[in-house]
Amino acid sequence: MIKFDFKTYVEPFIEKEEYQKLMSKKEDVMQQLQKSGMAGWTDRISNELLKEIKETAKQIKHQFDCMVVIGIGGSFLGSYAFDQMFKNYFENKNFEVIYAGTTLSSKYLDELLNYLKNKNFCIDVISKSGTTMETTITYKVLKDLLKRKYEEEELKKHIIVTTDKKEGILREEAEKEGYKTFEIPNNIGGRYSFITPAHLLPIALNYDLDDVIVGYYRGKRLTDQAYEYAVIRNLLFKKKKYIENFCVYEENMASFTEWLKQLFGETEGKKGVGIFPTSTIHTRDLHSLGQFIQEGNKILFETFIKVEKQEEYLEYEGTPLQEINNIVEDSVMKAHYSGGVPCLEIILQELDAETISTLIYFFQLAAAYSGFLFGINPFDQPGVEVYKKEVREALGKE
Ligand code: PA5
Repeated sequence: MIKFDFKTYVEPFIEKEEYQKLMSKKEDVMQQLQKSGMAGWTDRISNELLKEIKETAKQIKHQFDCMVVIGIGGSFLGSYAFDQMFKNYFENKNFEVIYAGTTLSSKYLDELLNYLKNKNFCIDVISKSGTTMETTITYKVLKDLLKRKYEEEELKKHIIVTTDKKEGILREEAEKEGYKTFEIPNNIGGRYSFITPAHLLPIALNYDLDDVIVGYYRGKRLTDQAYEYAVIRNLLFKKKKYIENFCVYEENMASFTEWLKQLFGETEGKKGVGIFPTSTIHTRDLHSLGQFIQEGNKILFETFIKVEKQEEYLEYEGTPLQEINNIVEDSVMKAHYSGGVPCLEIILQELDAETISTLIYFFQLAAAYSGFLFGINPFDQPGVEVYKKEVREALGKE
């Protein structure tokens, strides 16, 4: 279960009339989403596809030592965040999943090649466009390693391609070579693709997809809360609160804040508007950015994500450690609020697969609504093309 507190440490920053005005636009914003042609992630995934994903995951675990997921941005952050959140801090007991494709560091790729040299691994290359440079380079480097190890027929078994249904170089290659493929539907953009094979296949290797599916669609019940969250963020932006700091109290949720940054950053940051998303991991960052938040430039607000109960139980001098962690959270909100920082709170009863999947749906809805409230298209990212063009020119490929 998820609870929300958008009042206690926020109300004085919000004008009632402005709030009501934006709240009254709800139906209109919801219709904009439905008419956008990019709301495929609100539809139910078919049982047939789920079965195929589960069966493929089972085969991968049976045949290989590990799988390398190659992707960047919205094509990998959902499953990466999920995996980081639920695997053990120490002694990883999961089937090994390596995430690559997010860096052009030759040191990283060289070490990865060495690491994989004697492993029986497969690749899941994920790219909706099929043209992303980082993904392409990593894929080619790893495919070359596979080519050195295996004959053509065997090689095929080691490659899975997750891409557009019809378009793109990857789709062409996969069809020509006879690779196993999954599709990212036309009406779902990268950062909204959690409920597609792009994320569900890597997740299915170690977690129960049924929990993910149940939790994700439970997010549909949070439509009102997601809209209210979008409205409050929009009103805070108008009060010159241009930065949203996501605060978590579990180290393993750091990757989830990376997913949040990508979701909101690429969704909203257009045409000179949008809230810059950042994050602090507590209590670690209270001893670094905490100073700025408490007493520095008042350009930010915070969204705290609290976990009420932990399965693992540990006491310190008679008090459960989780209780201490939560007391710190409450105290930090009070302190930051007293320093002029509006604080919103999202309370997760437990940190489990179902709850996180619900939260993912909630944030996707909120981000999309927020885009419409800002008057921009939540589903494109034209700004990303600018650096890509510069790179192509510099490499003489334009
Ligand atoms: O959210 C998005 O749409 C982007 O972050 C993309 O996922 C990212 O740029 C990777 O694109 P592609 O899947 O086409 O390789």
